[in-house]
Amino acid sequence: MYNSGKIIAGLVVFFILATMPFLLNLGKASAKVETSIDTPEINALPVKQCVEPKEFMRSEHMQLLNEWRDQVVRNGNRIYESSNGNQYTISLQNSCMKCHSNKKEFCDKCHNYMAVKPYCWTCHIEPKENKS
Ligand code: HEC
Ligand code: HEC
Ligand code: HEC
Repeated sequence: MYNSGKIIAGLVVFFILATMPFLLNLGKASAKVETSIDTPEINALPVKQCVEPKEFMRSEHMQLLNEWRDQVVRNGNRIYESSNGNQYTISLQNSCMKCHSNKKEFCDKCHNYMAVKPYCWTCHIEPKENKS
């Protein structure tokens, strides 16, 4: 009887130690993919920021892209004003991909990791026609 407290405490400690690596790994797996923002365009920026804050971009860039497309295709509007008042040309190729010109090390890397396959690149990216 006297020992059962110790045994339970021992079991608890053992359980925590045994699951620790697993728990730490879980956190890492879901939180981090190393993406590179080392591109000429981004390196030349006075402030290294995206069109919206990083956390927003990380979770909402798909919605933002949909909104951008609708702005152009439905409203003919090609200027985006970001939440901090900066203005950007609404263009997948000439804005997003101009800064993120390292598609393989950026978009693709994260998408492959997350097993997402955007279907945009059949039409976009390889600009057959470069109007502006
Ligand atoms: C003016 C250059 C520029 C433009 C235009 C731009 N980005 Fe970014 N983007 C950046 C920079 C710089 C960062 C890193 C921001 C940081 O670390 O705070 C970034 C971060 C991101 C991230 C988060 C990456 C991560 O690892 O968390 C995503 C996703 C992203 N951009 C997608 C886009 C998309 C989609 C577009 C077009 C709608 C776009 N960006 C337009 C410069 C740009
Ligand atoms: C930090 C990780 C990360 C980076 C960097 C990133 N994406 Fe994504 N992207 C995702 C995830 C995760 C999804 C799936 C989201 C979902 O299904 O809700 C996604 C989905 C998308 C979609 C929608 C695809 C679909 O089938 O619904 C588009 C379009 C897209 N990303 C474009 C881009 C572009 C363009 C870039 C580079 C400029 C980029 N992403 C960079 C993580 C990323
Ligand atoms: C079947 C071909 C096709 C596919 C696939 C496609 N688009 Fe487009 N997209 C177009 C055309 C055409 C326009 C209109 C171009 C214009 O008016 O300048 C356009 C315009 C846009 C625009 C605004 C203008 C610009 O130059 O960027 C955005 C943003 C955009 N698409 C994002 C996407 C995203 C994100 C995907 C993938 C989820 C995608 N598109 C898939 C054909 C396509």
